[in-house]
Amino acid sequence: MRIFKFLLLFIAVPLFAQQGGMWIPSMLKGMNETEMQRLGMKMTAEDIYDVNQSSLKDAIVHFDGGCTSEIISPKGLLLTNHHCGYGEIQSHSSVEHDYLQDGFWAMSLSEELPNPGMVATLIVSINDVTNSVLEGVAQLNSEAEKQKKIQENISKIQTTFPKENWQENQIKTFYEGNQYLLFVTETFKDIRLVGAPPSAIGKFGSDTDNWVWPRHTGDFSLFRIYAGKDNKPAAYSKDNVPYTPKHFLPISLDGVAEGDFTMVFGFPGRTQEYLPSFAVEQIVNSLNPAKIEIRDAALKVQDGFMRKDKAIKIQYASKYARVANYWKKWIGENLGLKKSNAIQLKKEYENEFSKNVAAKGKSADYGNLLSDFEKYYNQINDYALARDYFVEVALRNTELLSAGFRLYQLEQVYKTKGEQAFNDRKNNTIKGLESFYKDFNATVDKNVFEKLITLYGQKSPLIPSEFKTMDYAKVTNEVYAKSKLASYSGVQELLKGDAKQVLKKLNKDKGFILIKKMADNYFTNIGPKYDEIDLQISALQREYMKAQLEMFPNGRFFPDANSTLRITYGQVKGYSPSDAVYYEPVTHLEGVMEKYVPNDYEFDVPEKLIQLINTKNYGQYAAKDGKMPVCFIATNHTTGGNSGSPALDAHGNLVGLNFDRVWEGTMSDIHYDPAICRNIMVDIRYVLFIIDKYAGAKHLIDEMHLVYPKK
Ligand code: ARG
Ligand code: ASP
Repeated sequence: MRIFKFLLLFIAVPLFAQQGGMWIPSMLKGMNETEMQRLGMKMTAEDIYDVNQSSLKDAIVHFDGGCTSEIISPKGLLLTNHHCGYGEIQSHSSVEHDYLQDGFWAMSLSEELPNPGMVATLIVSINDVTNSVLEGVAQLNSEAEKQKKIQENISKIQTTFPKENWQENQIKTFYEGNQYLLFVTETFKDIRLVGAPPSAIGKFGSDTDNWVWPRHTGDFSLFRIYAGKDNKPAAYSKDNVPYTPKHFLPISLDGVAEGDFTMVFGFPGRTQEYLPSFAVEQIVNSLNPAKIEIRDAALKVQDGFMRKDKAIKIQYASKYARVANYWKKWIGENLGLKKSNAIQLKKEYENEFSKNVAAKGKSADYGNLLSDFEKYYNQINDYALARDYFVEVALRNTELLSAGFRLYQLEQVYKTKGEQAFNDRKNNTIKGLESFYKDFNATVDKNVFEKLITLYGQKSPLIPSEFKTMDYAKVTNEVYAKSKLASYSGVQELLKGDAKQVLKKLNKDKGFILIKKMADNYFTNIGPKYDEIDLQISALQREYMKAQLEMFPNGRFFPDANSTLRITYGQVKGYSPSDAVYYEPVTHLEGVMEKYVPNDYEFDVPEKLIQLINTKNYGQYAAKDGKMPVCFIATNHTTGGNSGSPALDAHGNLVGLNFDRVWEGTMSDIHYDPAICRNIMVDIRYVLFIIDKYAGAKHLIDEMHLVYPKK
């Protein structure tokens, strides 16, 4: 009987036999360390994270709150992706110096370019503060009271936990509210641009190749951390000096082969691995299709204009890439969730969970969890869908409406905080909208608007009936003919005068009236109810996590990503995307030439790179077979935010730079399947080859520490 039960557990819980997971670097001792060493790692948990001595974690840097970067020289040289440094590279560009198109290389420290407002954060220590955060919480009755108490405790601990005066404390929740960790951090504020390849290398393949393997993109850029003379964080000053790190990553020129151990160290943003089947069903069948349809319509319109008009192409390039990135990801995610049978697997897992709950006599505590989930997910469906329609149509993809929404918020500020707050906000809004309108084209936006307001009216639940019956073409024409929101000068005109005058003008404006109806509806009929149900779902999710940890004591449970420092590990490995097809794990420069389309905006190749390829001038960076590797894939479980993360070998040497995932595995944020989920990295030898042979920036290579561990 015992053996039978054991077997059952083993068979029915296939999720645990798998790889994957994003682990907390201070808690690797035990299961993770054993697994990592079994996969080939030659280090200990202390080599990765140590508070008393320098360790790998001292080289890992949160790049401006979004991406990851790593220190690769004793002089604070930072490596990250081209798409992570894109905004900075763009902001230093002009028609005379188009660094996006031509690349940029500082040939000495004095040529490195400052980026006001940009920050880079290091983790000093990770501390478990769960007990203090949850103090006095259990005895409270309602979920709202509990959350309030938790927030109070968090603010108290954040101000009192010991740290140096140049450091910060930040508390984050793990395992859906079952654990709280405090991070002591150091944030540097003088980060300068050092180098970037041309987009034809750094963004090679652009949207067509995005989320796709095989890949041939040199997606990297270089920055440098500057510190005060005391090596502490300091605001920008020309007297600041390159930061001396506690650790920087040695770089291995040995390269990778199938089966090699690799790990990725970085700041993954958000995953939802423990959703019940009802939630995944809702994403697959309801939310993702709606968002995909909206973006599909917006992108088609923009693409049509961008192909015909060069100025529009420049104006919309960055916005288009941002919207297209997740549009494409959701399509891949839905395909992957269906193909991997994720919903069915979740249901089987839930059955197993329920059996365990009954067998362990825990029905009183956990017996209703799944049926409660089902109830609340049914309740939230229309609110969640209406919320996505509002956000995607009004806030993310129709520019006139999103500008209008800022003015709507301005009106709210006046109503809740009065004239002074209104004036401050008004001045900020005027400034903020200036750069917004620089990249705004009313004709493009009008065409997007007509498509999107139609989708909103015909498909969003919980909207005022007038939106369902309006003549969309007529409304579109009226709004773009009459609303002052269709130009920056119009907005400036609207905002002239005191609060009363401004609000009077706003409330006569056709565009403003429309967004106000949509926003008022959202804030009265959708948002509050959504938040109310969502609070219950979060509480259930916390209880469900606790229950899973108890019911499957040998399970491999990692906390969902939450923009904190994590380790993920695996092996270099190809995969089979479909019947009879196998993808090898490494690409080469030959593949760049196979994809080459002269003058194409996605697949052009710079003349100088073609020459280097023709003469096979690869120097010390070529692989043993004489070929130049470009990208490789492995089974590391990564997500958005892991871009720019280092891929490290068994000894902790840098071998690659993470930047993407493969098409078939984009569902890994919800369901990680080791058979097809792969992360994509640039081979570090390709990065060095471009810096040295393409850009002639040998002085940067000289700063680094190159090693050949196998030789
Ligand atoms: N898909 C990658 C990530 O989510 C890369 C995105 C940047 N590249 C692009 N073509 N938009 O961020
Ligand atoms: N491209 C993503 C990033 O920018 C990484 C991913 O989603 O795999 O973080």
